[in-house]
Amino acid sequence: MDRFVVGPSGPLSGSVTINGAKNSVLKCMAASLLAPGRHRIGNVPAITDVTIMADLLAALGPVASHHGKGSDGWLEIDVPDGIQPIAPYELVERIRASIVVLGPLLARAGHAVISLPGGDDFGGRPIDMHLGAFEKMGVEFTTEHGNVAGRCDRLMGAKVVLEFPSHTATDNVLMAATLAKGTTVIENAAREPEVADLADMLTSMGARIEGAGTSHIEVEGVDSLEPADHRCIPDRVETATFLAAVGLAGGEVLLRDARAEHMDMLLQKLAAMGVHCVPNADGLLASATGHLESVDVSTLPYPGVATDYKPFVVTLLAVADGVAVVSENVFAGRFRYVDELRRMGARITTEGHHAVIRGVPRLSGAPVKATDIRAGAALVLAGMVADGTTEVSGSDHVDRGYEDLAGRLRAIGADVDRSGAAESPAGAASDG
Ligand code: UD1
Repeated sequence: MDRFVVGPSGPLSGSVTINGAKNSVLKCMAASLLAPGRHRIGNVPAITDVTIMADLLAALGPVASHHGKGSDGWLEIDVPDGIQPIAPYELVERIRASIVVLGPLLARAGHAVISLPGGDDFGGRPIDMHLGAFEKMGVEFTTEHGNVAGRCDRLMGAKVVLEFPSHTATDNVLMAATLAKGTTVIENAAREPEVADLADMLTSMGARIEGAGTSHIEVEGVDSLEPADHRCIPDRVETATFLAAVGLAGGEVLLRDARAEHMDMLLQKLAAMGVHCVPNADGLLASATGHLESVDVSTLPYPGVATDYKPFVVTLLAVADGVAVVSENVFAGRFRYVDELRRMGARITTEGHHAVIRGVPRLSGAPVKATDIRAGAALVLAGMVADGTTEVSGSDHVDRGYEDLAGRLRAIGADVDRSGAAESPAGAASDG
């Protein structure tokens, strides 16, 4: 079976280039639906989620081809004049981000059928905010046989107040609003840098958007858009992964292209733990001695500490000096990987959406299982501070969001290998 094989590692040294942001790339791929013609999207890593999104686009009409590797990877997407606005179950259920095709499909075709989306295995992920927003914009929905079907004459600009600053709901409404008649206002919009990046792509296509990256976004609809040539921002969650690697194993590593301004709150928390980051012209220089202090952390919507960082934070705290409380405020039940860390000797108890972590000096290598993208990567890192060998199965989850994680960790001195099938997104499955 394909898995990561990890041995005690550190100190780390050298440099690693941070690839394009998964949660930006996937939305930019969906945005291509808004304009016929040939789009080019740069900084696209070779990860399974990109492959699945390309397959989903193919089912809708556009043909995407991926070229190059790492931060030199890019996509060419040919979008035909007519699109087929039916998103099939077998693709939608594999990837949460698939819901973001709904807005572009409604905007382009006036109707769309999409099955209820899948995603990582951390609690229910409803889409009521997406549907409520589109209803405000004039769409009528019916639900049958696990599908949601929406229909409208033309999307109408509207004031949309989100109950929670949902990232994908903001993306979805933002994209739909670009071709709606009149002005759309999104209040309590998500402020993630990836939302601003998507807005940059849409603006380059001719969309009229103000306020993206703030909680108040205004979009004045236009009649048509042009194909895009856009380069996506670097992935702040991948940056956090490598920062955690340095924190755990110690050393000094340059994270090329990493953007400190996209992760201020996490960097403050990491500094308090003993992981130091200095931005420079090339990216972010991270250093740590391997000795970590405990701090309490709560996840919150951006600009708070992102829920996606939490497995790395918990892993760092598992070997930090002292006791810490980590609270999850975005998704229910996102602590499944804690059982796996416990099998490695971590002293963690969970109660509802809180985890109490009593640091131990080192972990103990064991066979463990990845349950989602980030949890899987965190278990790989945990193996670097564990005595003996750690084998992380479920590596297909990790491939959903990382290109060649083992090779890139090895390049900075970590003892991380892949056994079984080659590390490649091709053919890798995800349970969505
Ligand atoms: C996005 C990211 C994911 C990240 C998350 C939070 C993508 C593809 N994924 O997910 O990596 O962990 O933001 O930063 O960009 N909710 C509702 N109704 C809705 C929509 C959401 O109740 O219609 C709730 C969710 O259950 C959750 C919270 O809102 O409790 C936040 O979810 P949301 O921001 O929408 O997360 P995603 O956009 O799915």
